[in-house]
Amino acid sequence: MANGETERLGATEAGIARAVALLRAEDAVAFPTETVYGLGADARSDTAVARIYEAKRRPRFNPLIVHVASPAMAEQYGRLEGSALALAEAFWPGPLTLILPVRSSGGIGDLVTAGLETVGLRVPAAPVARRLLEAFGGPVAAPSANPSGRVSPTTAAHVLEGLEGRIPAVLDGGPCVVGVESTIVECNAVARVLRPGGVPSEALRRVLGDGLVEEGPGHPEQVTAPGQLASHYAPGKPVRLAAEAPRDGEVWLGFGPGRAHRGVNLSRQGDLSEAAAGLFAALRRLDAMDGAGIAVAPIPDVGLGVAINDRLRRAAAPRP
Ligand code: TXA
Ligand code: MG
Repeated sequence: MANGETERLGATEAGIARAVALLRAEDAVAFPTETVYGLGADARSDTAVARIYEAKRRPRFNPLIVHVASPAMAEQYGRLEGSALALAEAFWPGPLTLILPVRSSGGIGDLVTAGLETVGLRVPAAPVARRLLEAFGGPVAAPSANPSGRVSPTTAAHVLEGLEGRIPAVLDGGPCVVGVESTIVECNAVARVLRPGGVPSEALRRVLGDGLVEEGPGHPEQVTAPGQLASHYAPGKPVRLAAEAPRDGEVWLGFGPGRAHRGVNLSRQGDLSEAAAGLFAALRRLDAMDGAGIAVAPIPDVGLGVAINDRLRRAAAPRP
């Protein structure tokens, strides 16, 4: 749907029912998860999934994450065995996506898997997402609900900033509590982190021990998840990382109790959970302020800091 009205649905029974009706009609609906807002469509319908790509203006070769209400439902679409099963038991529902061998009997479309033999599955924890998925009763493919290449949305207002008039509806569940996307883990003989996210590697390692291999921007020689372009999550202003202080004309993205400058502090207490939850909203606010660039304070590269630094590196990467 292009250039229509976008309905704002409350997180009520009527709002959920309307969102389910749109999903059943093979349309796309934005909905909240604990990580970011997703733009969802029935993963079994190529017609429905095509609407996601259309609304996002997203290149079609990126595979999409499929959201389901329970691990039992995930089993219908992917093979949940070995290390994947251990991770699902430890972290679902939650901000973890598992890349599993796809079951052809599940009917997940080729547009979702981008023709791969695997499918990304996740059981989100946010109550509104769970209610929606339970009421729909099927698999929902959903990338973040933003135009391709822009900062991910963590409120319904952010979704509308990017997609107003391009999607039929957004279900409003308030701000996302985690604030960075799910951790993506590919589970074969070994488990590999393809994208750092809401479940820190330290937590994965407590479950898998040495059965976990870490990849991504810190390990550029290795493959990362398809669609993980270097420049992503991009604000309009140039971004300068690990800065001691803003230079003339720059606005400041602070972390911790250091000196105050014009801009936003992600967490005065130096709390990484608080920083992750506010990261994308902060980038939007800084982008809207007067200034030629964004200078970013150093952020510790542990726990959720790894996902925060990953997103900031993408925000700072040269644009295509
Ligand atoms: O937190 C999240 O993960 C959010 C919410 C909405 O769930 N979704 C999200 O989706 O971040 P998206 O489309 O922005 O990122 C999905 C990434 C793709 O870029 C791709 O790298 C990876 O997931 N992916 C999906 N299916 C895959 C597969 N079969 N193999 C490898 N990577 C896959
Ligand atoms: Mg995204």
